[in-house]
Amino acid sequence: MTIIAPKHIARIRELVHNYSGIILERVTSRSVDKKIHTQMKHFGVSKTDDYITILEGFEHNSKAMDDLIADLTVSESYFFRNPAQFEYILETLLPEFYKRNGSSMPIRVWSAGCSRGEEAYSLAMTMMCFQREHPDARFTINAGDINAKNLAAAREAVYNKRSLREKLAIFEARFGFKLGEKNEKGECIVADQIKAMVTLQKLNLKNIRGLNCLAGSDIIFCRNVLIYFDESLRAQLAEKFYQCLNPGGVVFLGESECFSGVSDYFELVNYKKTYAYRKHNGIR
Ligand SMILES: C[S@@+](CC[C@H](N)C(=O)[O-])C[C@H]1O[C@@H](n2cnc3c(N)ncnc32)[C@H](O)[C@@H]1O
Repeated sequence: MTIIAPKHIARIRELVHNYSGIILERVTSRSVDKKIHTQMKHFGVSKTDDYITILEGFEHNSKAMDDLIADLTVSESYFFRNPAQFEYILETLLPEFYKRNGSSMPIRVWSAGCSRGEEAYSLAMTMMCFQREHPDARFTINAGDINAKNLAAAREAVYNKRSLREKLAIFEARFGFKLGEKNEKGECIVADQIKAMVTLQKLNLKNIRGLNCLAGSDIIFCRNVLIYFDESLRAQLAEKFYQCLNPGGVVFLGESECFSGVSDYFELVNYKKTYAYRKHNGIR
């Protein structure tokens, strides 16, 4: 395998960043060259210059860029990751939003950077649990990711041990229902009722204007995604999420992430050592 020239790596890094906001070094390590070669083969080109020309056309056709990003990004996720966030939703946020909305307006939830759907289906289970006590409560759960392979897996909704872990079992026992049935390989096939609660779509968080689809949200999950982005994009996203949230709405980030320097937009809520960014209830 020939090594990709540093000037080519630099150009690919720039293109990936322009398209997705992703800083290449944050998502991958040594195997970049190998992954670029795999993609070149896939697109039938032998010269890196030609591959770069294909990538440069992403505004008209993003297939090559999407495939490269899907290959480069690690999409680690599992059910009920950071369980305190789901407890906070169930115990504090849903009762409050339900009291405000009643049955007339759905509570709107987004999983932005949803990976293979584990997060969105965990949210669906949480909403279903709430609905048992409040059958007229209504929800919409949207989930999006830049990675088409992840979205395909989310649509299939069959999960192995890596995604399931013990946290799911704890919530299943508490909620009194299961995520789904096991197949012969021991994978879990998500129940149709839970699948039907989630609407999946392609979402690119770099495209700030394209995020208007989040408008009117009560809860936005954007966990373990900001780590890939630079400070400027994180600040733009904080502002956009703020605009898109209903009063009192909440953003959840990953455990090691924060919206530094933009906290005056939000009130920082601490629940069992997990943090959430809450939009003020009044008009600013
Ligand atoms: C580590 S996973 C986190 C999944 C889930 N949110 C969680 O915390 O378990 C990061 C996800 O962010 C997605 N991602 C990266 N850049 C993105 C972008 N610009 N727009 C939307 N999703 C993006 C990746 O494809 C990947 O699925």
